[in-house]
Amino acid sequence: MPEPGGRATASPLMGGSAEPTLRDLSSPGRQAWSFPPLDVPDGDIEIPELAPGPPALPEVAERDLVAHYTRLAHRNFAVDLGAYPLGSCTMKYNPKVCDWAAEHPAFRNLHPSQPAHTTQGALEVLMEAEEILCRLTGMARATFQPPAGAAGELTGLLIMCAYHRSRGRKPGTILIPDSAHGTNPASVTLAGYSVAQLPSDERGMVDLDALRTAVDDDVAGLMLTNPNTLGLFEEDIVEMARIVHEVDGLVYYDGANLNAILGVARPGDMGFDIVHSNLHKTFATPHGGGGPGAGPVAVVDRLVEFLPGPLPVRDGDRLRWEMPASTIGRVHGNHGNFLVVLRALAYMRALGGPGLRRVAERSVLNARYLESLVSEAYEIPYPAPCMHEFVASAAALKRQTGVRAMDVAKALLDRGIHAPTVYFPLVVEEALMVEPTETESLETVEAIAEALLAIAGEAAVDPEHVQRAPHNTPVSRPDDALAARQPVLTWDMERGGGR
Ligand SMILES: Cc1ncc(COP(=O)(O)O)c(C=O)c1O
Repeated sequence: MPEPGGRATASPLMGGSAEPTLRDLSSPGRQAWSFPPLDVPDGDIEIPELAPGPPALPEVAERDLVAHYTRLAHRNFAVDLGAYPLGSCTMKYNPKVCDWAAEHPAFRNLHPSQPAHTTQGALEVLMEAEEILCRLTGMARATFQPPAGAAGELTGLLIMCAYHRSRGRKPGTILIPDSAHGTNPASVTLAGYSVAQLPSDERGMVDLDALRTAVDDDVAGLMLTNPNTLGLFEEDIVEMARIVHEVDGLVYYDGANLNAILGVARPGDMGFDIVHSNLHKTFATPHGGGGPGAGPVAVVDRLVEFLPGPLPVRDGDRLRWEMPASTIGRVHGNHGNFLVVLRALAYMRALGGPGLRRVAERSVLNARYLESLVSEAYEIPYPAPCMHEFVASAAALKRQTGVRAMDVAKALLDRGIHAPTVYFPLVVEEALMVEPTETESLETVEAIAEALLAIAGEAAVDPEHVQRAPHNTPVSRPDDALAARQPVLTWDMERGGGR
């Protein structure tokens, strides 16, 4: 039996029992929609019957619908609520001017297949964003089609493959450091290559001797992020690129950490040939929950012919689409995730060159300051000066008190701060990967440090309390492993629950 509508507005805002579903709130005859008046002639169109009747959707009034989703939103943590130092993910505050730009109906309603002569403005956006991105990365041209970082990785690897094929070669191995983000080996496998893992040395950087040993004729390329996932700048990067180029391998830059070097250093100058950047991290677009994103891929001159297409090109005072000569084909609609690109361009234009450089400077300054504040309580296994993030270890804390990295992360939530990334990268025991980001103030950085120090202090006197945290959030400790192994993705009408 559906329960009457109206309950949504009577439930508590935060905490308490589970939020009713829209189906629980459904009441026959209630509706939350209205269509605009018809602006075309009414006609008799025969619509073929696709289903025996209307779908059994919940019937809910707008009031209840808004209350329901607003309450759900309040039960979640968000970049607009507070500090979100989730290492590697760059969960920073995104200026609202970027959303303003993306809300323009002419851009919002763009159809992926609209002819170029009706979308000159959108093509200008792509061209301008590409020009800035290429200036920042030191590359020649870029595609905005890949809709995420991982999709950019796959695109870059397919470009590598096309390059080698064009030279009559078929090398089968990609080198990846052991600190790499999980998407790197996954993309390599998806692209049909095998992975050869490179160990990190005592500095937390790629072991140069191991690289020299691993490089042979079967190496198609090296995939690397710099700063790496330990937050450290790979000091030997120029030499590494030289070694890989010597066997005609290509060097791929995972640009997910680009915010650390914006306007200061360029992957192209370090010797990289292919760069993907995560617009949803480095440039504005909040990306929690899996999207939307954009992972544009930029390449050096000799790889432009392999880029996915079509690409916008200038033709007199107009712009049109053109397929690169030896393109790998399409990887998405022509404009990619266009509104994410638009947000990125608005961000680049709002900040300008000096502003983008300040992004890098502040992201590094914030991370170094925070690291220095917490390093007495949390060991820093690789103590070289960090860039935009650092990896601390709760291994000693665990030995002394039983409190683990996961407990520290959960306890931070009680203090109004989002958890850092935990247990990644895998090369650090009880890893806490902290990225305060460039948008947090001095006071917030100090508040994060105070919270981390307070948790370490509490672990020493009352470890069970920390191990049971969080105590003040609507959901405490979901079973992550069970959720990952047996995800419940569908609603079972009969049983009133998922299966
Ligand atoms: C270093 C690194 N590489 C790749 C990715 C993958 O990006 P996406 O999540 O957009 O697929 C991420 C994501 O956070 C990352 O941190």
